[in-house]
Amino acid sequence: MKAIVIEEFGGPDKLQERSVPEPKIDANQILIKVYATSVNPVDTKIREGALGEASGDFPLILGGDVAGIVKEVGDNVKRFKLRDPVFARPRQFGTYAQYVAVDADVVAKKPDNLSYEEAAAVPLAGLTAWQALVDHGKVKAGDKVLIHAGAGGVGTMAIQIAKHLGAEVATTASAQNEELLKSLGADHVIDYKKEDFSEILSDYDMVLDTMGGDIQHKSFKVLKPGGHLVSLLEKPDEQQAKELGIHTAHFMMEPKGDQLEKLAELADKGKLKPIIDSTYWLNEQGVRDAHVKSESHHAKGKIVIREK
Ligand SMILES: NC(=O)c1ccc[n+]([C@@H]2O[C@H](COP(=O)([O-])OP(=O)(O)OC[C@H]3O[C@@H](n4cnc5c(N)ncnc54)[C@H](OP(=O)(O)O)[C@@H]3O)[C@@H](O)[C@H]2O)c1
Repeated sequence: MKAIVIEEFGGPDKLQERSVPEPKIDANQILIKVYATSVNPVDTKIREGALGEASGDFPLILGGDVAGIVKEVGDNVKRFKLRDPVFARPRQFGTYAQYVAVDADVVAKKPDNLSYEEAAAVPLAGLTAWQALVDHGKVKAGDKVLIHAGAGGVGTMAIQIAKHLGAEVATTASAQNEELLKSLGADHVIDYKKEDFSEILSDYDMVLDTMGGDIQHKSFKVLKPGGHLVSLLEKPDEQQAKELGIHTAHFMMEPKGDQLEKLAELADKGKLKPIIDSTYWLNEQGVRDAHVKSESHHAKGKIVIREK
């Protein structure tokens, strides 16, 4: 099968199209014929070598999202049959390919009203947003939530999920994205190039930190005692958290089929709409261009790669 692989760490030019053996499934897996995948910042970080040997053996196939149809079903799998439309964040990376073997327990049926490209934009970013807001942030109706980088892959999902949970949502973005983020439900959009969110917001129940560094540090200031600072990037300062009575978390998203089903339900009800920045073909140049776009750090929503 065709796959886009790296044989050593480095820049986008290390992404190469190769013919590799089709994956074999075990009894608890399904083989998905990939119609679409997407780029997440972790893909470019792995490509550069940030995870070192933990990335796996070369040639390495990147990619952590898939939408497609079921091509083979493992003996123990009862929930899926041939040709079912599905989507997933597989436990192992490797979706920049024509086929991917995925543990069936992390797969969900593709929402009917999303295209394959839209569905491929959901799993990694959507599960991250869900786990940050629900599992770690304990967001409930009436809470005030600040989402940093609202126009990003995670941010566009998080705004919609937080609104579904009944929260009042503030988000940081550049001015050009204000209209889009308001259309997703954001109540307050703060232009981070002109305004300092920590001077404007106060008494928040939760902050979703997608940026780290100084932005994380300043985020303590907007939280009320008992609030939650949840970071996707680095562990918040424990001493400061203790002094202010803030709960903190830093976590890595875990693939979970039941949560993906909840996201599919929201999408089917029209409450979760993936925002697609751009779409590229699954070939060497397409994936290289998609990585360059992701590394601009200014994509609006998700970058999708399509095979069909
Ligand atoms: N821990 C985990 O499991 C996990 C999971 C997913 C992602 N992450 C990490 O979380 C981060 C965000 O992921 P993502 O997929 O959302 O990234 P992304 O889609 O690449 O984010 C791009 C967005 O960031 C915005 N942005 C850039 N600088 C900003 C600033 N100073 N203030 C506010 N917004 C800013 C841009 O908006 P403008 O164009 O308006 O500037 C752009 O829309 C990444 O570092 C990723 O690796 C971690």
